[in-house]
Order: sequence, then C-alpha cells, then structure tokens
Amino acid sequence: MSSPVRRIPLYRASIGRAEASAASKAVLAHTLVGRGPIGSALEKRMARDLGVRHVQLTTSGTHALELAMAVLGVGPGDEVILPSFTFSSVANCVLRQRATPVFADVKLNDLNLDPVDVARRVTKRTKAIIPVHYAGAASDMDALGRMARAGGFSIVEDAAHGVGATWRGRALGTIGKAGCVSFHATKNIGCGEGGAFITDSDAVARRAETFREKGTNRSAFMRGEIKKYTWVSEGSSYVLSDVLAAILNEQWTRREAINAARGRAYASYQERLADLDASGRLLLPRVAPEGRSSWHLFHVLLPSRVWRDRCMDALKARGIGATFHYQPLHASPFARKTLGWRERLPVSERAGDTLLRLPLYAGLKPDEVGYVCDELRRCLTGRRS
Ligand SMILES: Cc1ncc(COP(=O)(O)O)c(C=O)c1O
Repeated sequence: MSSPVRRIPLYRASIGRAEASAASKAVLAHTLVGRGPIGSALEKRMARDLGVRHVQLTTSGTHALELAMAVLGVGPGDEVILPSFTFSSVANCVLRQRATPVFADVKLNDLNLDPVDVARRVTKRTKAIIPVHYAGAASDMDALGRMARAGGFSIVEDAAHGVGATWRGRALGTIGKAGCVSFHATKNIGCGEGGAFITDSDAVARRAETFREKGTNRSAFMRGEIKKYTWVSEGSSYVLSDVLAAILNEQWTRREAINAARGRAYASYQERLADLDASGRLLLPRVAPEGRSSWHLFHVLLPSRVWRDRCMDALKARGIGATFHYQPLHASPFARKTLGWRERLPVSERAGDTLLRLPLYAGLKPDEVGYVCDELRRCLTGRRS
C-alpha cells in the first residue's frame, strides 16, 4: 500500500518577517526609488563581500545581461558564444545588440560549457563568451579564461544560479570582465524580480551606471561630482527600487545559511540516489572539484525522454513538484527560423529530453528528500528502497 500523498513544491523562497518588515520600513520612510540609500549601501556591501570593485543592482538578471552586452560594446558583426542549454535571456541579450549568438554544447557531468566545443567555435568575430554556471556549479573558468586571453575577447559570467558559489575560492560573477546575477523569486535569494551587474573594471562600471540611469550621468551627480546631470549616452532604465533592495538586504544577510541548508538537502539526494547512479538507472550531477556550488537546483538525467516523462508524471501524482528544465535554444523554432541553426548539439539535446529536476530549497526536510527519492526509485525499479 502506498503512503499518503505529500505536497512538496519544486522551490520555496526562504523569505519571511525580516523581509516584510524591511520592505514596510522602506515604504513608510518613502524610500522607494532606484539607487536610493538602501540599494546604494547594499551595492557596497555586496562588492565588499564578493571581493570585487563594483556591484550595480538591476531590475532583473536579464537586464544585467543586456547591460553587459551594451557596455562591452557588442554590436553588429560580433559573435558571442553561449551554451544552448540555458535560458532565452542569454541569447536575447546578444540579439538585442544585433550580434550573433553562437551555441556551444555542454558537458554531461555538470551541464556547463564544454571548453573543447567552445574552442571549435571561436572565430575572429568572437567578442565574448557567456559561461552559465548551471545549477550554481562553476564552469571551467581556467580553460575559458585561457581561451579569452588568447583570443582577446571578454568573459561575461551568467551567475544567475550562482550567488554564494566559488571557483578556486573566487566568487562566481567576479572572475570575468563582467558578471550577472538574478534575484528572481525562484533563486536562492531574491526580491521577486531583481539582479546585479558585477565588474572589477572602473571604466566598465562607469559605462554601466550611465546606461542603467537612462543614459544620464545622474550617478555622478548623486555622488556630488557634478552640479547637474544630463543625457550623455544611449541607455535604459535598469535600477532596482529601494523597496526591493530592502528585501534583498535581508536575504543577503542570510545567504550563507540558506545555501548551507540547500547544500545539505543536495548531499542527501546524492547519497540516497548513489546506487541508482551506479546501476546506470540514472546519472547524478558531478561538479568540478575546483568549485563550491550554491546548490541552486538538483537534477538527474534519466535513460530516455520516455523514462523522464514517466517519472515526472509519477512524482507529480505523488504531490512532488518534479519538472524538466531548459529546452535547448539551438533546437527552438525561433533559432531554426531566425538564425537558420541546423547543427545538432547532442549533450544539450539529451539534457533537454531526459533531465528531471527534483525539489530543492532551504526548508526541505530530510524525510521529504527521502520521500522524493523513494518515489523516484519506485518509478525506476518498482521498489521503494
Ligand atoms: C541562466 C539564467 N540566466 C538568466 C536568467 C534571467 O534572470 P531573471 O529572471 O532575473 O531575468 C535566468 C532566469 O532564470 C537564468 O536561468
């Protein structure tokens, strides 16, 4: 006889009274606009904690990526290499500059960019690479860094999943020329919608602060460097409201505790599913030892799409928010029609077809991990444990 059905969502934000009180204080103090006192202080705090010169809060991770492409001067005729197995925003930020996204395949072990495949795609037109640190586990920044230095192009890290994660002790998002983070409600820490643009370069930071302030030098004015501000370049509106910054400030304070709790649940999944990996019924993620993950999400790869869909449906029927993830961009109708992309990228396609995400959040209890693993095991083997 089966046990009672439980309700275990895919994710749950670790948010509560501290954030509610910080937001209401900001509202009551009329601290609402972007780049206000709360956001400005938080930017400095984040930069100090991450060991980087500049952090600029943005309205989303997508906008941080757009900002990066704009201020690094990506333009028509340029190519930008990115994983196909990722979110549409990573390709859109390239298209918005009228440049060409070039899709590369990922490695099976961690679903991060495969440096061998990237190397094949570098041309004289390559302006940047965007490694996406999938699930919060670092891409191979040594190999990609060597390639960028040799080719004279930039690395823009997409650390949307990677707040609190590192590569050889350096925070993800701080290693490339620029880094982009997401504070969407589904991320480890968030404020509903939000992001950050990160750079160590003073010149890049200058261009970014102008761009995100509608192409004006308002930031210099706010620092008292000039008497009035005016329109100085192309730009847009990417500053985060102080109400959201107030929520984010509380989340930032708790980020290590939140990540540690996620890490425990992640380790428990790895341990409980190890025998299914050993017997070839599924493939567990294997992340690079040079990195420390933020444990943003947990996934397994199943033997086929049929098995993935069968297990996804079986887990859903048992109240578990199991789901698929990215559908490879290169195989999307849009890429095929607009970019004329025809090449196959086997690992990305396999991940799109066979990847199953399992619930992961800070409040996930050990017995809930046990329940999810039992149900997955039952689907794959007919036995619960
Ligand atoms: C890898 C990646 N990059 C960028 C983004 C965009 O972030 P946002 O939702 O904050 O715009 C996402 C969103 O989930 C993402 O998964």
